[in-house]
Amino acid sequence: IPPSIGISSFPRLLLVDENGNPIKASQLPVNAQPTIALFPYPLNNEPNFLLNLGDDNNQPVEIPPTTVIIPQNGVKYEFPGGVGPSKSIVAFSAICQHLGCTFPEMTFYPPGYKAITALGPKDKVLHCSCHGSTYDPYLGGAVVTSPTVRPLPAAVLEWDPSTDQLYAIKMMGPVIYGHPGYDNPTQNTVNNPLGDLQGGSPISGTTT
Ligand code: FES
Repeated sequence: IPPSIGISSFPRLLLVDENGNPIKASQLPVNAQPTIALFPYPLNNEPNFLLNLGDDNNQPVEIPPTTVIIPQNGVKYEFPGGVGPSKSIVAFSAICQHLGCTFPEMTFYPPGYKAITALGPKDKVLHCSCHGSTYDPYLGGAVVTSPTVRPLPAAVLEWDPSTDQLYAIKMMGPVIYGHPGYDNPTQNTVNNPLGDLQGGSPISGTTT
């Protein structure tokens, strides 16, 4: 009997730093290594990267909505784009969709190296050092190189301009291990095959 671990709806989670203070979107460093801002979502054993994406001069760049394709099955979904004052802030699952490695293996491409992507050489590609899968954070977590055949799931964010605070509101992305889609919050939304086996409880989110 498969474990019935999971959640039946997505919490709205205020993102805070390691001291419990709300993260201010306008103060999030641009192009910092993803491990500086990790948050668990939607379960307490499912880490996500918070990224403020920029250009080569570390100026934030607007991340437009984009269509992401799952190479495994050809299914497409719409990544909503970045949030924050420059629409440059995005968040992705830190669990590699190949075999489940997570940080610290998952980082931006090693400094000084460039990955060859559809948009040309880029050094800010999310790279898993377990087997070399890479993902493009500028294109909704799309697969750049195998062996993964699934994009990184995205944590969809909301930015409150009046407080500069950030919230995670749901996950979207590939369906794996028989779990129904992220876009149906009435279904089990566990996105981590290891999490299924190890157990994970919902994080506590606000209901503001
Ligand atoms: Fe990341 Fe294999 S687990 S490439």
